[in-house]
Formats: sequence, structure tokens, C-alpha cells
Amino acid sequence: MSIPSQQHALAILTKKGAWGLIPAGVEQPGPGEILVRVESTALNPIDWKVQATEYSNYMQEYPAILGSDSAGVVVAVGEGVDNLAVGDRVFHQGFFTNRLATFKQYAVIGADIAAKIPDNLTFDEAATIPLGLATAAIGLYNETWERGGANLVAPWSEGGRGKYARQPIVVFGGSSSVGQFVLQSAKLSGFSPIITTVSPRNNDFVKSLGATHTIDRSLSAEEIQSTIKKITSDPVKIVYDAISIESTQTVAYDVLSPGGILIIVLNPLIPKEKLTSDKKVINTYGTVHAELNRKFGQGLYSNLTNLFKSGDYKPNPVEALPGGLTGIIEGLERLQNDKVSGRKLVAHPQETVTLK
Ligand SMILES: NC(=O)c1ccc[n+]([C@@H]2O[C@H](COP(=O)([O-])OP(=O)(O)OC[C@H]3O[C@@H](n4cnc5c(N)ncnc54)[C@H](OP(=O)(O)O)[C@@H]3O)[C@@H](O)[C@H]2O)c1
Repeated sequence: MSIPSQQHALAILTKKGAWGLIPAGVEQPGPGEILVRVESTALNPIDWKVQATEYSNYMQEYPAILGSDSAGVVVAVGEGVDNLAVGDRVFHQGFFTNRLATFKQYAVIGADIAAKIPDNLTFDEAATIPLGLATAAIGLYNETWERGGANLVAPWSEGGRGKYARQPIVVFGGSSSVGQFVLQSAKLSGFSPIITTVSPRNNDFVKSLGATHTIDRSLSAEEIQSTIKKITSDPVKIVYDAISIESTQTVAYDVLSPGGILIIVLNPLIPKEKLTSDKKVINTYGTVHAELNRKFGQGLYSNLTNLFKSGDYKPNPVEALPGGLTGIIEGLERLQNDKVSGRKLVAHPQETVTLK
């Protein structure tokens, strides 16, 4: 398989500046790594946030290539890789460095945190999984550290399947990419009822993923709380806020019972006067690249192929954007303007063309 030395990549050209196509060298996989020809890469809210907000500090160098999700074909393997081979269809999570980002045509990744795509998934479907599922899974199942998780037993670990039967869970934002994977995880873990906030047009969709009860996300905080109390009188020990704006964090914290854990995905915004020592809040860091998540990520990735092959997990509904990497720019505007509901946008880096 011939591998070019140069490729197209989509980058933020200067800090908080414009997006543009740049030429980039194709990396060689180091020991334990693979090189993937990226067929599909997914868009995430963090991509526009790095361009437009203080998250720009995530990037050490500019132009900064972004992209956290990739699905493609292995074209080269580094020394010592024995779980994957040239020609395998794989998916993996990218990271915030030009070397590990995925808005490009070829991406490198550690073979320990990549998985084969099962035959029942397309490249586009597989690209919807890595960041969203890592955020859901790390938040629920990784050990408790400052940016870790609630330390529940994962459904793919011994004794984990169905372990939390008859215990309620509340998920804010069940139709979001992260929320979809939280709902599916909660179902595998046995939680019941599984209560989620959502726009009513997505009620049936989130129920197909495991939600047992839906609450219109436009209701007031008081209405959301009283609706939950009508659904269950049991203590709510796990709340996952997949949206984590101030309004959702505040009601999520109120809904949580003493001794419980609230998992959030953005910086804490709960008013200080509300905070009590008997409720734990974890601002999870949904990347298997973080040192303290890597071991968990290896366990997750060693199970992912089977979990999707069996249908235990389903990918997000997907919409493919035209225009190769360049199409990402307009897609990110849609994400920024809240114009994406219940689906993941993906782009095809190999379809990138440059204007002469
Ligand atoms: N900490 C981390 O490592 C990490 C990792 C990944 C993502 N994140 C963050 O997590 C958040 C979600 O990311 P994502 O990719 O899952 O987002 P997404 O799929 O783009 O989110 C869109 C969805 O959010 C739902 N939504 C918006 N506002 C809502 C509200 N107030 N209540 C309930 N649902 C609401 C919408 O639901 P309806 O259409 O049904 O209204 C829509 O389906 C983002 O802020 C992202 O930056 C953090």
C-alpha cells in the first residue's frame, strides 16, 4: 500500500483565528503505534470551542490541527504491534496535538487504544463512537480521580452486567452524542428507571437507547425535579449531566441524593452556596489518552469490537458532510449554533480537494 509523504489537514491557523487547509507531513508510526488512512472523522463541540473560546489554550502549537474521532484503514504498523495489521478497519480517538489529531488524511494512534470495526458498522458510524463513548464510559466506570469517574463496575467487566438493577439514574441531555452512550451504558448496567431530559421530538429515539422515562428539557428546574420525584421515590445516587451548562448542572445537583455522584462534562458551574460535602461532583475528562484514563481505555478498546458487533451499543445516527475536510468548517458552525439534534456530523478526509 503506497503511503504519501504529504497530506491535507484542517487546522486553526492562528490562536482564535480562521480554519484553513494546510499541508502536513504524514507521520511514521512509532513503537506500539499504527498509521491509519482516515476515511471518516467526526465533529465535536470542542472543535469550535478551541477555535472560539478560552479552550484555545488546549493547543500548544499553531496552526493547530483538531479532530477527536477517526475511522479508517491501517496502512502501517510500528514495532511490537501484534493486535492489529495492515488492512484492518479500525476506529480510535484523536487528541489535541498535531500528531494525534484526526482532521487529516492519515493519523497515528497507539494500537492499545484502537479497535477493529465490526462488519456491521460503516466507517461513518464507527467515527461517531470514540469521544462520545469514552466520555460516557470514563465518567461512569473509571476510577474516581479529579477528572475520572464514578467507579461503577463496567458492564464488560466481571459482574458488571445488570449490577445496578432497580437503582435510578438521571441523564441530562440523552439525545446528545455523549448522552446517547450514557443511556446505552446505563441500560447495560441495569439501572432502572433511566430518566432523561430531551426535546420531545427525540423521545422515541432515546427510549430506543434505553431511557425508560423522558422529560421535556424546556421545563423549569422545579418542574424537572417534581417530575423525577413522581417517577421514583428511591434516592438518585448517579446523575450524568451530558450538557453541563449552568442551568442543567444546578438542577442536576439538586436532583442528586446525599451520598451520590454527579458527573459533569464541562467546568463546574454550580453556585457555591449550594455545594454540600455529601454530594460528589466529577468533571470527567473523556479521553483515553490521559495518563490516568489510559489503562481504562485499553480495557474499553479491547471490548469495543464485540460490544458493537453484538448490538449492545449502537453508534450515533450520522450525517456525512460534503467537501472532505473543508466541509467541517460549516458543520462546526451548525454545532456552535445548536443546529444539530440527535446525530453526529462526520467528514471524509480522502474527498478533500484543493482549489488551484
Ligand atoms: N469533558 C469532556 O471530556 C467532554 C467530552 C465530550 C463532550 N464534552 C462536552 O459535552 C457536551 C455535549 O457534547 P456532545 O458532543 O454530546 O454534544 P451534541 O451531541 O452536539 O449535543 C447536541 C444535543 O444536545 C442536546 N441539548 C442541548 N441543550 C440541552 C439541554 N439544555 N438539555 C438537554 N439536552 C440539550 C440537544 O438535544 P435535543 O435536540 O433533544 O434538544 C442535542 O441533541 C458539549 O458541551 C461538549 O463540549 C465534554
